[in-house]
Amino acid sequence: MDSATHYPQLELLRCRPALTPLHRLSRIAPMKVLITGITGNFGYAVYRRLRGRGDMDLYAATRNPERVSFLLEDPAVEARMFDFLDPSTWKGAVGEIDTLVLVRPPSLTKLRKYMFPFIDVCKNSGVGHIVFLSILGAGENNRVPHHRIEEYILRSGISFTFLRPGFFMENLTTTHRDEIRYNSELIIPAGQGRISFIAVEDIAAAAEQCVGNAEHLSRAYELTGTGVFTCSEVAGMLSEELGRPIAYRAPGTLAFFRYRRGLGESLGFIFIMNLIYHKVKKRGAERRTDTLQRVFDIRPTELRDFIREKSGVFRS
Ligand SMILES: NC(=O)c1ccc[n+]([C@@H]2O[C@H](COP(=O)([O-])OP(=O)(O)OC[C@H]3O[C@@H](n4cnc5c(N)ncnc54)[C@H](OP(=O)(O)O)[C@@H]3O)[C@@H](O)[C@H]2O)c1
Repeated sequence: MDSATHYPQLELLRCRPALTPLHRLSRIAPMKVLITGITGNFGYAVYRRLRGRGDMDLYAATRNPERVSFLLEDPAVEARMFDFLDPSTWKGAVGEIDTLVLVRPPSLTKLRKYMFPFIDVCKNSGVGHIVFLSILGAGENNRVPHHRIEEYILRSGISFTFLRPGFFMENLTTTHRDEIRYNSELIIPAGQGRISFIAVEDIAAAAEQCVGNAEHLSRAYELTGTGVFTCSEVAGMLSEELGRPIAYRAPGTLAFFRYRRGLGESLGFIFIMNLIYHKVKKRGAERRTDTLQRVFDIRPTELRDFIREKSGVFRS
């Protein structure tokens, strides 16, 4: 499949003039953009890219508006109460919103109960465009939740852009940070499978171009960086850049489950991690695309440069 997929069949679904994307996107008043997952890797990176743009008003969807207002230190951004698990917050959050930057929290697995009804509310509230953070391979892998979310958005008739990135480099500085920092270990059940990484900053830069841009409607973009590495190679790179040995350990599924559970992570998140890493172990996740460069004119961040730049995070 091409790394940028176009869904022309959607043109047929767009029958309500009020939702015609070109009409909405060419409006004179600033476009109202709501970002979910604003405190997370992607949401925050998108916020940093979009803030200060005169052609849009930014809104932050959050479970804790007070904390987010404090975090963003930006009076121009309105924090709106929003909890995927609390439907009473949905309508108020998406009211008058033109474009929704949608992040599925890693722990959210009950799509029928929460995600799909939320998308219905978006549709009924007149959201004109959803930029959805999906995952590489979601188009054909129906075991990942993102596949079903994409399908649901497609069927809703809301205009969309799907961003399907590979593995975040930021997994090293978030999910795996403490084991690297305190135990000098990288613990991932991926065996010697090869992984293509991408920096969240690069995905956010692509998202910035998609928000409010009719050129990117009805498109799914598979996004990766340039290099593919085994976790042993990543550990080697960490060792070189940090100046101390970092060991790679590849536990079995159950041991990994117990380890991450011991860190207090949700069952849903661990389940998805195991699923993805199992696939990496068996078949690798080496797929690379040139979409960042070709479609968005973004030069992908190299993993070594990322590790070097973030090396302070791994020092205790
Ligand atoms: N990691 C990867 O390698 C990778 C690769 C491709 C795709 N993805 C996909 O990217 C998505 C995660 O993006 P991310 O890394 O930016 O997320 P993240 O850093 O884990 O942040 C999750 C965000 O979701 C918010 N959130 C959690 N539960 C919520 C709820 N009930 N209601 C409203 N907001 C809630 C959190 O807000 P609080 O501050 O309130 O907790 C936080 O802002 C997942 O769907 C994942 O599958 C990840």
